[in-house]
Amino acid sequence: MFLVFLYSIYFFIFTTCYGVVQELFVDVPIDHFSLTRNNDTFKLRYLLTEDFYVKGGPMFFYCGNEADILTFYENTGFLIDIAPTFNALVVFAEHRYYGESLPFGAKSLLSPETLRYLTTSQALSDFVCLIDHLNREYYSTMITNDTYPVIAFGGSYGGMLAAWLRMKYPHMVLGAIASSAPLLQVNNLDLCQSFYNILTEIYENNGNCSYPVKISWEAIRNITKTSEGKKNVSEIFKLCRNLVNEADTNKFIDTLTDVYVNLAMLNYPYPTKFLSPLPANPVKMFCDKLRSFGLVKTSLDLLKAISSALEIATNYTGQVKCNNFETTPEQAVDYAWDFQACFELIMPMCSTKYHMFEPTQWNFTNYSNECTKKYNVQPYSFNEVLVEHGGKILKYASNIVFSNGLSDPWSSGGILQNVSNSVVAIVIPEAAHHYDLRGAHPVDSKYVVDARQFHVRQIKSWLNI
Ligand SMILES: *[C@@H]1O[C@H](CO)[C@@H](O)[C@H](O)[C@H]1NC(C)=O
Ligand SMILES: *[C@@H]1O[C@H](CO)[C@@H](O)[C@H](O)[C@H]1NC(C)=O
Ligand SMILES: *[C@@H]1O[C@H](CO)[C@@H](O)[C@H](O)[C@H]1NC(C)=O
Ligand SMILES: *[C@@H]1O[C@H](CO)[C@@H](O)[C@H](O)[C@H]1NC(C)=O
Ligand SMILES: *[C@@H]1O[C@H](CO)[C@@H](O)[C@H](O)[C@H]1NC(C)=O
Ligand SMILES: *[C@@H]1O[C@H](CO)[C@@H](O)[C@H](O)[C@H]1NC(C)=O
Ligand SMILES: *[C@@H]1O[C@H](CO)[C@@H](O)[C@H](O)[C@H]1NC(C)=O
Ligand SMILES: *[C@@H]1O[C@H](CO)[C@@H](O)[C@H](O)[C@H]1NC(C)=O
Ligand SMILES: *[C@@H]1O[C@H](CO)[C@@H](O)[C@H](O)[C@H]1NC(C)=O
Repeated sequence: MFLVFLYSIYFFIFTTCYGVVQELFVDVPIDHFSLTRNNDTFKLRYLLTEDFYVKGGPMFFYCGNEADILTFYENTGFLIDIAPTFNALVVFAEHRYYGESLPFGAKSLLSPETLRYLTTSQALSDFVCLIDHLNREYYSTMITNDTYPVIAFGGSYGGMLAAWLRMKYPHMVLGAIASSAPLLQVNNLDLCQSFYNILTEIYENNGNCSYPVKISWEAIRNITKTSEGKKNVSEIFKLCRNLVNEADTNKFIDTLTDVYVNLAMLNYPYPTKFLSPLPANPVKMFCDKLRSFGLVKTSLDLLKAISSALEIATNYTGQVKCNNFETTPEQAVDYAWDFQACFELIMPMCSTKYHMFEPTQWNFTNYSNECTKKYNVQPYSFNEVLVEHGGKILKYASNIVFSNGLSDPWSSGGILQNVSNSVVAIVIPEAAHHYDLRGAHPVDSKYVVDARQFHVRQIKSWLNI
């Protein structure tokens, strides 16, 4: 879900803006589902703060997703903001195969052989092991209760995990706040176009520049037909390596597409540092800067204007030397995410001529063939995750809040309607990707503040306080 265009260097400073946090590790089995697992374990990393914990208080458990857990800790301030109200212990668990939670060390991401334990079920079991470990330490006197006061949180894929954690392990987790969790996008061909519908609307509603972006693809295709043109485009976009063939051009176009997706997902009204540093309202910033070039006469001028406008996002710090359009070792994380996207979290997406991107089609045969080429393993079933976790069948679940910002392309696959009295959906107008889980900020809209208050009320009702 997250693809990073730039080299982003994360600094591992543990005195964060949200106070001091302990970095800890727990041993968990590499394979939870084998009785002959030969004691093979690895160290799952987690961050914990007792700063607000008072004995008897609940545990707020963030289900890490596809990146270093520190990234989520620093961009999910909501848990810390409300922890004092609840006397809560706050835990952020890293997802296996990301950050430092590597089952096979540096080799973990290199081959399908080492990646084979990267499944949603294994990840959920890691979380359960960690919760069990912490329950013994903090709630040992409650061992006979029918549940523990553990509240799961998650954003995006982490939100799916939070919801599934509650659904599968209700004896361990009392309730879940699942923000921007695109549960319905998974294995759903009906929603193929929805993501790009919303994305295009976001660019129309924030500076109205979907049109110039849309024609830029044809300009890129035209110009890169010749080797001189490829050189020109490489220079205009300050690429780290020149485009030399059509495969490069395709990769470049995919990468640019990801940048536009990220700007829309992270279109927060104040500057942020999530996947990379971004200004406030990045989509509008980009569109406004693009418009400042006026009417452009040639395709080359259009591309120059776009490249320059994009710098507000790709080079916000002014420190970026060149833009990379291909996978580097630092981006191996994409390899892990793509593996998940190939085998379990298959989210069909396609665009048409009405969208701001090049039209693309989607079918499982083709998708599966591409995955097989990349990993040398054939995805066996389109429906894998639906069978495993229930897909849109949510009526047997309880104590889950699904929240979605309506200006988030991922809301295309979100649960936007109430399912039952205890599986509820809230929609947040004008909010980007899991905005409600961010820390409070002076410019937060009333909608976002209301959503957070809704979460607090739900958690209180689950805890019976
Ligand atoms: C697993 O660990 C236990 C306790 O350390 C030991 O007794 C047992 O032999 C180990 N099993 C294997 C298969 O290594
Ligand atoms: C767990 O049990 C203790 C002792 O019976 C009780 O005081 C507490 O309220 C229970 N907690 C929950 C969440 O049910
Ligand atoms: C948005 O841009 C398109 C083409 O660039 C133009 O036709 C349309 O009028 C603009 N809409 C608004 C609301 O400015
Ligand atoms: C691309 O090339 C075609 C054929 O030469 C031309 O009709 C079209 O206007 C060009 N488009 C752009 C955006 O440069
Ligand atoms: C490449 O750039 C040069 C210098 O700006 C220009 O003269 C030439 O026409 C361009 N070629 C293409 C194919 O864009
Ligand atoms: C980033 O900004 C700096 C300062 O303006 C500039 O020198 C550099 O070329 C830019 N890099 C990219 C990749 O745009
Ligand atoms: C096949 O998959 C590739 C890679 O995902 C994609 O670029 C292409 O558009 C797909 N083609 C069809 C017809 O689905
Ligand atoms: C899926 O896409 C491939 C092209 O990548 C094409 O050959 C095949 O006919 C398509 N299948 C269906 C059912 O559309
Ligand atoms: C779902 O129900 C809650 C009340 O429990 C309500 O506040 C909320 O607006 C409803 N959500 C939707 C999308 O109608």
